[in-house]
Amino acid sequence: MANIGTSIDRAVEALGRGELIGLPTETVYGLAGNALDESALVKIFETKNRPRFDPLITHMDSLVKAELLVQEFPEKAIMLAERFWPGPLTLLLNKRPEIPDLLTAGLPRMALRIPNHPLALRLLSRLDFPLAAPSANPFGFVSPTSARHVDDQLGDKINYVLDGGDCEVGLESTVVGFDDENITIHRLGGLTVEEIEDVVGHVSISLNKSSNPVSPGQTKRHYSPGKPLIIGNITEELQKANGQKVGVISFDTDHGVDDQIVLSPGGNMDEAARRIFSALRTMKNTDVEIIITQKFPESGLGRAINDRLERAAAR
Ligand code: TXA
Ligand code: MG
Repeated sequence: MANIGTSIDRAVEALGRGELIGLPTETVYGLAGNALDESALVKIFETKNRPRFDPLITHMDSLVKAELLVQEFPEKAIMLAERFWPGPLTLLLNKRPEIPDLLTAGLPRMALRIPNHPLALRLLSRLDFPLAAPSANPFGFVSPTSARHVDDQLGDKINYVLDGGDCEVGLESTVVGFDDENITIHRLGGLTVEEIEDVVGHVSISLNKSSNPVSPGQTKRHYSPGKPLIIGNITEELQKANGQKVGVISFDTDHGVDDQIVLSPGGNMDEAARRIFSALRTMKNTDVEIIITQKFPESGLGRAINDRLERAAAR
């Protein structure tokens, strides 16, 4: 078991010694270490059992600090950063040569973001290095949205989890890249396509759905709850599931099932996003044999929720 607490001093000391900590952010909890220290980066990959072809996101607390890590900041990237940082937006920009290749899995671009969480920002302001932080779950599993979740999955491998309460967004950041005039979303997340297009106009979406990605990123199978997950019409799927112990995760409708989580009885998509990973985790830990859920409306955060559910359902 890790210690769970709110001491910034303790986090600063551990990170300064090259150790990893659990880091609260508004999206999900991260497994954080010094982004400029190769041995800390190796620990991150090993602790998560993450393949080295999958690059990490680097976190800092100011745009000035981000600018020091990259070669140039395209104008549209600045526009997005000024509008949405701190927040659930990750920018892919060309790294400076001195940034470790391990951080970016050998790619020329690095991923950067300023998280919108008071404890994370206070911690980052005390450090003279940025933090590499992938989601604090073993590779392929559901992302953690509380300090307890981190402890449950990685508590035997790290000493300290900085406790920032439950994550307010609940989905990982949206990953955005720039090629000349084109802006591409590489991962749907807590910042919606609509919000981004409001600032920079049309963007394309290129999500990795292969299980053996040519370019790194999300693998097809991810966010696994460890048992079959069916996405469909919940009422119909319940009829087909006779004999099996079923758990239901619905958006807003009560289906009268014993093991059921209604994410937002009032139909609020923000609330559903905030609770989705925790719901998958709960279903994983109960004795239901299959999980039935539904497709969400394909707009706003509904798109990112659908993306996560499809990956969790992939077998
Ligand atoms: O909300 C978040 O982004 C959380 C919190 C902790 O900040 N972090 C997170 O990290 O979700 P992780 O490692 O679980 O996901 C990082 C994603 C992966 O899909 C990775 O492949 C992509 O960002 N990524 C990172 N660097 C990249 C690069 N240079 N090119 C393409 N994709 C990159
Ligand atoms: Mg992750």
